[in-house]
Amino acid sequence: MEFRDVVRRRRMVRAYDPERPVPTEVITRALDHAVRAPSAGFSQGWDFVVLTSADERDGFWSAATGAEEQERMDSWLRGVRTAPCLVVCLSDKEAYLDRYAEPDKGFSDRSEARWPVPYWDVDTGMAALLMLLTAVDEGLAGLFFGVPPERRERTLAALEAPPDRRIVGVVALGYAAPDRRSPSLRRGRRPVGEVAHRGRFGRPWSG
Ligand SMILES: Cc1cc2nc3c(=O)[nH]c(=O)nc-3n(C[C@H](O)[C@H](O)[C@H](O)COP(=O)(O)O)c2cc1C
Repeated sequence: MEFRDVVRRRRMVRAYDPERPVPTEVITRALDHAVRAPSAGFSQGWDFVVLTSADERDGFWSAATGAEEQERMDSWLRGVRTAPCLVVCLSDKEAYLDRYAEPDKGFSDRSEARWPVPYWDVDTGMAALLMLLTAVDEGLAGLFFGVPPERRERTLAALEAPPDRRIVGVVALGYAAPDRRSPSLRRGRRPVGEVAHRGRFGRPWSG
């Protein structure tokens, strides 16, 4: 598929065909692409926990969602729970602080105040986008969603992940089933002329 078509076709899908697992080669390709993402200082402070069996996914869902939501099984959860593959994307701040304490970077005080934004989360997000685009390129679909902060500790424990990792988000992968259009899309896409500025802020980019 042409790259521009991959970008245009990508949308977050919130319901999947539960009978069609994601082929292992597709998951592997998504992960191969994820590790091609750029990372500050080539720190690569990311980890991806791939959940494909029903047991693994159930363990994630019980840790990541509250009993109340599960009881209600709201339509979001009912849809997203059909995803046959979940890739939990973790960032590792310590890997960045360690990397930037090296002589070529020189942040030997390991101060977080030096960081314009948390690059550990930025880089992991870039890797997640590459997985979403890979899904589209392979004829599948994906969703990026977050885990509420109050469920973080429990979710990391369920994954047997180190407790200092941050859960940047989860990439759900699968073959799309009909789903409801997100109400957020009613906001409309902000046009390039509004968000892009030529030369200085406030002068619209007009091509
Ligand atoms: C950082 C981030 C967090 C998101 N979290 C959720 C989420 O928790 N649940 C969800 O259904 N969608 C989530 N989304 C998807 C957005 O709602 C979606 O990208 C947006 O409405 C635009 O729709 P599109 O991606 O289909 O074009 C998230 C997207 C991003 C980038």
